[in-house]
Formats: sequence, C-alpha cells, structure tokens
Amino acid sequence: MADLDSEEFRAAAHTLVDQIADFYASLPTRRVTPGEKPSELRALLPANGLPESGQPVDELLAEVGPLLFDHSVHNGHPRFMAYITSSGSPLGALADLLAAAVNPNLGRWDCGPMATEIEGQVIRWLAELIGYPPDCGGLMTSGGNMANFLAFVAARKAMATWDVREQGLAGGTQALTAYVSAEAHTWVDKAADVAGLGAQAIRWVATDDKQRLCPDELTRLIAADKAAGCLPFMVVGTAGTTGTGAIDPLPELANIAAAEGLWFHVDGAYGAPAAALPEAPVELQSLERADSVAIDPHKWLYAPLEAGCTLVRDADALPAAFSFLPSYYKLDERVDGEAPGVNYYNLGMQNSRGFRALKVWLGLRAAGRQGVVAAVRKDIALSRRLYEQAEKHPELEAGTQSLSIATFRYRPASLTAGPDPDGYLDRLNRRLLVDLQRDGRIFVSNAVVDGDYWLRACVVNFRTTADDIDAIPDIVARMGRHLDGELRPASMR
Ligand SMILES: Cc1ncc(COP(=O)(O)O)c(C=O)c1O
Repeated sequence: MADLDSEEFRAAAHTLVDQIADFYASLPTRRVTPGEKPSELRALLPANGLPESGQPVDELLAEVGPLLFDHSVHNGHPRFMAYITSSGSPLGALADLLAAAVNPNLGRWDCGPMATEIEGQVIRWLAELIGYPPDCGGLMTSGGNMANFLAFVAARKAMATWDVREQGLAGGTQALTAYVSAEAHTWVDKAADVAGLGAQAIRWVATDDKQRLCPDELTRLIAADKAAGCLPFMVVGTAGTTGTGAIDPLPELANIAAAEGLWFHVDGAYGAPAAALPEAPVELQSLERADSVAIDPHKWLYAPLEAGCTLVRDADALPAAFSFLPSYYKLDERVDGEAPGVNYYNLGMQNSRGFRALKVWLGLRAAGRQGVVAAVRKDIALSRRLYEQAEKHPELEAGTQSLSIATFRYRPASLTAGPDPDGYLDRLNRRLLVDLQRDGRIFVSNAVVDGDYWLRACVVNFRTTADDIDAIPDIVARMGRHLDGELRPASMR
C-alpha cells in the first residue's frame, strides 16, 4: 500500500522539488498571506468523509503543492516578521526529506546509531555556539515549550528534598516554588500544571521599565517563601522575551540562584543564538552559569519546524528525571568493550523520536559559526533600522528595541504625544494589525508593553532585506491614516 518503486519515487520527487524551487523563487512577489477565512479554506478540501478508494500519487502531489503555496501564511516571505517564527531554510527542508527517507528512530541508539551520534554532536555544537560547557547533557525536542518543560522537570527532580519520582509531590512537606519574570512565556504555566505543582507554585516576578526581571524583587520573594515554609527550587531567566526581546539580568539571577541554592534555568528559546556574537549583550555571557538552557534552532537558527533543544550542565540530570528501564528494552550491553551509545528515550518524554537533529546539523555545517553570527547580526541590525525609522516618522511612535524585536505604533500626527488615557491608540492599533495581516503586504504581530498595545516586528528571517524594512513605515502610516479617519471619535478630533 505505502510503497513506490524507485522510478515512481524519482519522478514524483523531481516534480515536487521543481514545484518547491519555483515556490521559493516566488515568495518575494507573493502576498505574505491571502487572508482567507476558515470556511473558504475548508471549501478547498475534499468534500465528505475519508476517501473510500485511493488516488494516484502524482495526482495528489500535483494538487497539494498549490494548495499550500497559495493558501498559507508564508513565514519564509521576506516581509513576514510576526511572532518568533523563522523562515525555514531550504537545506532544512531537504534534510527533513532525507531524515524521513532513512527514518531512524532516535529513541534507542541501536534503532538509529548514526542519527543518534549526529544528535549528540548537534547538542555539543549548540552548547559551543552559545558558550555553554560542551560536555553538558541535552536532548532535541519539538520546540521551546518542550525544551523548557524538560528542564523544569529535571530541576524538580534535582531540587526536591524527597524522592519526587517515587512519591510524587505528596511525599514532600514543603511546596516547591519557582520564580520567573512577569514577561516569561506561557510554557511556565503548562510546566507547573503538568508537573503537578499547580499555578500557585509560580512567582511572576515584577519587571523594570525595560521588561527585565527585577533581582531585588526576586530576592524578596524567595525570602518570603522560605519564611512561609515553601521550598524555592528554581529561578528562570529569559534571554529574549517573547514580547519585546528583553534579556533578564542573568548575572544577577545566577548569583541569587547560587546564593539561595536554587536551580538556574535560562529560557533562551529565542535569544540564545545571539550569545555567539562577540558584541553580544553582556548578560548573555552568563548562559554558561545556568544549570539548564532552552534553545530553539527552529527560531533563530532557521531550522524548519520542529527543532528545540534542552541543554543541562549535569549530563545525568535528564536521565535522573526521566529514565525508566522496562524489561523489553535490553540496553546495558557493551559492544566490543565500548560503552553503549545514548538511548535518548531515557532523557525526555518521547519514546520513538524523529531525526530533527539532521536539519540543525546540516544548517550549522553549511553556515559555520561565522555564518550564524552574520545572520543573527543582520537580523538585529534590520530591527534597529525599523526602530530608528519609527522614531523619525511623524505618524509612528517607536516603543522598544531589543535583540531583533522592535515595537512601534501608529499615532496620528494630530494626536498629542504622551500617554493614551482613552485607550484610543490601543483600539486603533489593534484594528490596524487585523487590517495589516489581511492586507498581506507585510505581516507583523503585537506586543503589550506596560498595558499598552504595540505593533511588533521580529526579524528571524534570512530573506528580509533593508528594502523590506523600509517599506513598513509607509504601509503602516497609510493604512493607519485611513483607519483613523474611520475610527476616531468626534470628541478626539
Ligand atoms: C521565550 C520563549 N520561550 C518559549 C517559547 C515556546 O517555543 P515553541 O513555540 O517552539 O514551543 C517561545 C515561543 O515563541 C518563546 O518566545
């Protein structure tokens, strides 16, 4: 049922690869998105239920390419700058094809020997790239949420004063508490929930005027929790917040974690690759002090989805938190006197695991450290360019700029500068974002900073050029002006 003979495969693959090559070439001239509604898309899918009989593969492939090319939000488009979703590299797409063709199972070494060794090398290279000890442990994951979650569970196991794996949370007399900035990503909510700690275990530490965790407030909260009989176990620093790219004061957080005897984790899902730059913000140099780091190659290393990675200083920390040895896995044999290879199922949640390491390995080899540095540096420079243009533009207001994220908003020239007490700018920019995304010439997202709504561009895109950046102010201002004409109440004119 599933097989193609080699000639059928060759013909189908050549056709598909030709289509993809044309698709890549067409990206700059496409709209970033056609802006269609769910019902319009559903109408394009096969009617009725599961097909009763099969269809020829060449027919299917001829249909599916255009279906996706013409009805997607193209994060590979040079003017896609939303969320933190990178343009997936073409080499990564080829790597995924090859990985699926060989189809190794990276749960056990003996089901994917070379693939497992490549994953090990990727983990060491990612550590080296960001200045983390390369003899660390680690595991590739589906993305940032999972990478952070594994670190959270490793910290829980390492820091609980009782055998939490055997007895669960009920075995302890103290409530485990973790500390993150109020700007941290929502993975923390999920991790606390799924790891059984509950939402009340999380202390969302206040941030300063640059959206960075306040160390004094952290110290105060830890002391209060200790006095109340809780068991503080983990400090999380974010290296590149999702909203504005803010980098927490990692050196201070590392000091506090060390002084208080807590696990120090850094969520570098987005920003960790910037640590490779010689001119990196000094905070990023403290990544090496973390007990664990999350880094996402599918963000700023341009791997196609999905590719995240957990790094842990103590290579035993992940097996300590996740390993089980069932009788149907005979894993302890030595091969010709050599220690057995790593069985990655023992280091995380997944049992069968795909070869997501391949696209990262090839990407790092094709770019080298210098290529990575140049790409990250370029994205940061483009983001600063956008911020500076917003500063200069009479109808735009510049908000924040950090790493490769700039925030800005449309502010009609006839509105006075300063705060937005009536929330009119919030309403205007909220609607403007909807219109911009539907329009499809540029694709940005939003951030909420100190309660205010801003437009937000995040450049993790190797196709974005200065021309793409320079197009943004005019598009935003024209559409903003039009919308302002419709929305502004008479009392504000
Ligand atoms: C700082 C940070 N951590 C974690 C995540 C979650 O990553 P993923 O979407 O790959 O699960 C994100 C996503 O944007 C993020 O910005």
